Amino acid sequence: MELKRGHVNPRSLALKTLLIWEKKKPPLDELLSEILTKEALRDERDRALVNNLVLGVVRHLGYLDFIINRYSQISLNRIDAEVRNALRLGIFQLLFTRIPDRVALAETLKILLQRGRAKWVRGFVNALLHRVSSAKSSLPEPPKAYPTLYLSVKYSFPQWLILKWQKRWSVEELEALLKAANEIPPLVVRTNITKISRDALLKYLQEERLSVKPCPYSPVGIIIEGFRGRVTDLRGFKEGFFSVQDSASQLVSLLLQPRPGERVLDACAGLGGKTTHIAEIAGNKVLLYAVELYPRRLELLKENFNRLNLTLPSIFTGDVLEVLSGFKKEYFDRILLDAPCTGTGIIRRHPDIKWTRTEKDLEKLPQKQLALLEGVAPYVKKGGVILYATCSLEQEENEDVVARFLEANPSFKLLKIKPLLCQLSGDRAEDLVENQYYFRTYPHKVGLDGFFSVVLERLA
Ligand SMILES: C[S@@+](CC[C@H](N)C(=O)[O-])C[C@H]1O[C@@H](n2cnc3c(N)ncnc32)[C@H](O)[C@@H]1O
Repeated sequence: MELKRGHVNPRSLALKTLLIWEKKKPPLDELLSEILTKEALRDERDRALVNNLVLGVVRHLGYLDFIINRYSQISLNRIDAEVRNALRLGIFQLLFTRIPDRVALAETLKILLQRGRAKWVRGFVNALLHRVSSAKSSLPEPPKAYPTLYLSVKYSFPQWLILKWQKRWSVEELEALLKAANEIPPLVVRTNITKISRDALLKYLQEERLSVKPCPYSPVGIIIEGFRGRVTDLRGFKEGFFSVQDSASQLVSLLLQPRPGERVLDACAGLGGKTTHIAEIAGNKVLLYAVELYPRRLELLKENFNRLNLTLPSIFTGDVLEVLSGFKKEYFDRILLDAPCTGTGIIRRHPDIKWTRTEKDLEKLPQKQLALLEGVAPYVKKGGVILYATCSLEQEENEDVVARFLEANPSFKLLKIKPLLCQLSGDRAEDLVENQYYFRTYPHKVGLDGFFSVVLERLA
C-alpha cells in the first residue's frame, strides 16, 4: 500500500529512532514514546511495526552486528551510522520476523534512497542483504570454543555481564535466562480493585474478544495474550479499571501491606506504578507521600492517579533525602524504597539496558542504594516497615545492600515473607521465596520480571 502524503514511513522512522538512540543512548521506552507521539504514522499497525523493529534491533544488536561483520567486506566500525543501522534493520527483518525477504530488502533500499544515499551504497546493502537471505539455513555461528564470546554473540548480551552470570549459573540455567530475557513478554495488567473486581474485569475484557487469563501469582493480575495495539485504546483503560504492570511488580506493593489511615512514603515513586497500587490496596484511604527526582515523571504519576480516580498523594520533587529533612523522624508507618538499580531483571521489557549498563554501575549503584536505605530508615516508626526493592538480579544490589544495612542498623530485622506470599499466591508462593526472607523472581523460572524485595521491620 502506498503512503499518503504526510504519513511517515515506519521503517524510516525506526531508522531515525535507532540513530538517535545509538548516538545519545536515552532510555529507549521514553524515546519511542516521544517519537511515536510526535510523528504522523498511518495507523496502529505502523506504530506497532516501528516499536517492534526498534526494540527487536536493540534486543538482538550483538548478533546482528556479528552477521554484518561476517558478510561485509567493510568492517562494521567503518560503515557509517545510517547504513549500519539500515543493515541491522534489514537483517533483523530477514532473521527474526515473518516479513517476506523481498519486502525487507526492497524497504531497506527504499529508505536509503529516500535519504539520498548513493547508488553504490545501496548496491552494497542490497548485496549484503541478499547474501544473508540466501544463507538463512546455514548462518555462521559464533565460536563455541570461547563460551563467553559464544553466549554474548548468540544472545546479544555484553561480555562483562555474561562473564559475571557464568560464575553464578550453570550453562543450562544461564542459557535459559538469556533466552527468557530475549523473549517479548506478555502484556500484564493490574486490576484497580477500588473500581472493579478481577473477575468482573476478566469478563469485561473477554467481551472485547481479548485472550485473557488471571495471573497465577498476583491476585489482581491479568495476562492479556497476543495483544497488539495501544494499551490506552483498550476497553476500560480510560475508565481507570486497570494499570499496566508486571505481576512481580504488583506483588512488591502487596508485600508492603499498606492499611487505611496509615502514613506511607513511596520514596522513589517514578511514574507511580507502585504508588497508585498502594492507594488501591488501602481502599484509597491511605495518607500517601510520593517523592521523585524528575518532575516529568511526577506529571505522569498525577495523570495516573487521576485516570484511576484515586486521591492524589502529597507530591515532592527532588532527592528524597533532602525532602525528608523537612519531616519529623519516625513519621511514617511504612516506606517503600523501590531503588534505582541496573534493571537486569527487566531486560525483556527494556532491551537497551543490555547496552547502557556497565560494570561501573555495579560499584556505584549499591552505594547509592545503601545511602537511600540508611537515609530513609530514621523516618519509619518503631513497629513500622521499610520495603526495599529492586528490579535487578544482582547480589551486589540486593542481598549485599540489605546485609550491610542490617549490620549497621541492629534495630531493624528481616520479616519472613512466606506466610504473606502464601495468602497472595497460594501454593505457588514457593516459587517466589528464597531463604524465607527474600522475595525473588526470575523471567526464566516463573515467567515474571526479575524482582527482589525484603521487608525490614523497625524494632526500636
Ligand atoms: C526503580 S524506579 C521507581 C519505579 C516506580 N516505583 C514504579 O513502580 O513505577 C526508581 C526511581 O527513583 C528515582 N530516584 C533516583 N534517585 C532518587 C532520589 N535520590 N530521590 C528520589 N527519587 C530518586 C528515579 O528517577 C526513578 O524514577
